[in-house]
Amino acid sequence: MSNTAFDNPFARIPNGQTRLLGVIGHPVAHTLSPAMHNPALAWLGLNMRYLAFHVHPEQLAEAVRGFVAIGMVGFNATVPHKEALLPLMNWVDPLAQRIGAVNTVAIDSDGTLRGYNTDAGGFTDALAEEFPQLELGHASVLVLGAGGAARGVVVGLLEAGTKNIVVANRTQPRAERLLTELAPFYPHARLEALSLEARRLPLETTDLLINTTLLGLAGEEIQWITMDRLPSTALVCDIVYSPPETPLLRAAKEQGLAIQNGLGMLIHQGSRAFEIWTGQKMPVERVRERLLGML
Ligand SMILES: NC(=O)c1ccc[n+]([C@@H]2O[C@H](COP(=O)([O-])OP(=O)(O)OC[C@H]3O[C@@H](n4cnc5c(N)ncnc54)[C@H](OP(=O)(O)O)[C@@H]3O)[C@@H](O)[C@H]2O)c1
Repeated sequence: MSNTAFDNPFARIPNGQTRLLGVIGHPVAHTLSPAMHNPALAWLGLNMRYLAFHVHPEQLAEAVRGFVAIGMVGFNATVPHKEALLPLMNWVDPLAQRIGAVNTVAIDSDGTLRGYNTDAGGFTDALAEEFPQLELGHASVLVLGAGGAARGVVVGLLEAGTKNIVVANRTQPRAERLLTELAPFYPHARLEALSLEARRLPLETTDLLINTTLLGLAGEEIQWITMDRLPSTALVCDIVYSPPETPLLRAAKEQGLAIQNGLGMLIHQGSRAFEIWTGQKMPVERVRERLLGML
């Protein structure tokens, strides 16, 4: 197999049979998805391209109709389109319905739009890969944040059999709403919503701590979390991948705890989307190597 995308003839010049994939966002310029999908397509000899499209929320429906009209194979969606795509789909995967967001759309040859959410499975794929010792069925998990990403993370954990989850959010009613919506689907799970500022977050009994808030993106610490209260076997995950080491992860590492950033989740949600569109497995290790070189 060739070493660079450009050794492959399909990677050089698109032709009359080139099929199109892409990602929509607002903004979208920061996305790593083209850097992940284009080399993977080329390595597998698939005559397809993956582009980023800046789509304004008011033009979402129009953009989707255009994608159908030009025969696109499918597309990913990032902020703020994931929730707004749901009603535009002809069919929605039950898990995406439960999460309330679509991040992957497949367009059939007759124009049928099928919506999926690969964030949940992508997150648990990354956990299984990087924390193989973790038994989610027996773990107590503390999730910080209750936004769009947290919804996928919590559903992923529940689908993987996690029975004890605390969600702590700055706006506590948002965490309560999320868990109230999910509880009927997972009657055996113990779900609790707290305020992020709760004086006693249950750190001493947490096996897995996951940050899904925006805190850390710009180097902020999460003042309510002190690492020495976590068990020495606790695992700490931040779903941000840039910066690769947030203050939370740095503090956990200094405490000797195992850490994981969001790169694995990004790669695995992309890999699941890739398989939906192409029916083939993404060469995940080569993609990871390439992205690590870019970050
Ligand atoms: N690795 C991946 O593949 C992947 C995938 C998806 C998202 N992400 C990352 O996940 C992060 C969250 O994305 P999202 O879509 O969930 O965003 P979102 O829906 O806007 O949710 C933001 C969350 O952060 C909390 N928050 C924001 N500012 C805060 C502050 N100053 N103090 C405390 N909490 C604060 C919000 O709390 P309130 O409810 O109180 O506002 C909410 O829980 C982003 O960094 C995104 O890049 C990574």
